[in-house]
Amino acid sequence: MNSRERYIVVGSDLDLFDDIERAGSVVVGYFSLRDKGFDYEYLGSHEKINTMQRKTNSKILIAVDDTNLRQNLWKHHKEHVTSYFSPFSNISEKAQISLGCVIYPNVFIGPLSRVDINTKVSVGVQIHHECVIRGHSVICPRALILGRVTIGLGAFIGSASILGPAIEVGDQSVVGMGSVVTKNVPDKSLSFGSPAKVKRRL
Ligand SMILES: CC(C)(COP(=O)(O)OP(=O)(O)OC[C@H]1O[C@@H](n2cnc3c(N)ncnc32)[C@H](O)[C@@H]1OP(=O)(O)O)[C@@H](O)C(=O)NCCC(=O)NCCS
Repeated sequence: MNSRERYIVVGSDLDLFDDIERAGSVVVGYFSLRDKGFDYEYLGSHEKINTMQRKTNSKILIAVDDTNLRQNLWKHHKEHVTSYFSPFSNISEKAQISLGCVIYPNVFIGPLSRVDINTKVSVGVQIHHECVIRGHSVICPRALILGRVTIGLGAFIGSASILGPAIEVGDQSVVGMGSVVTKNVPDKSLSFGSPAKVKRRL
């Protein structure tokens, strides 16, 4: 038995494996959205993850993009969910990251920023100073979040979008890829474009 950290990954991010193994830990199990017969809504599947967790004494990482699934998985497994920080990320000592987060390579998180529970921060994202990411969110690759931005619960921030400074994105809102968000975004809305405009309510 070695003391290396063991993880079960729930999600479709195959590139995460290499990063975990390069960091000296081991992926002992993988549940994919593409796995035949695996339905996240079916309690048996949660049981399957729990059984594997017990047998291997591993921590569970949630890395799926869908907010409802993230919340559902968190609800069922939270006592075994952990956070993963890529060794290739750069997180300020004055930043605060909660449980259940996955921080990918080349992420920067600045001083006095806070990332709450069960948030996926994907490759190359920059979150600058004094931001609040309120949990269950997905921040897609290369999004640039400037200072003092707040992102609501369960939001989805599309790839390569630029947000801020000092704006708020509402709970359960979606920002499309490549958007430039200069003003507050209401709850449960879909926005995109440069400058981003609300296109519809969700
Ligand atoms: C905004 C988004 C959610 C799609 O919304 P949608 O309502 O399904 O939009 P549609 O695909 O029906 O497109 C509607 C119109 O908006 C345009 N559009 C869609 N997304 C856009 C965006 N981000 N910026 C500018 N225009 C966009 C489409 O080209 C289309 O234009 P048309 O009416 O002239 O044909 C999606 O385009 C998006 O940006 N997703 C995020 C993707 C991402 O970052 N994934 C992470 C991968 S790791």
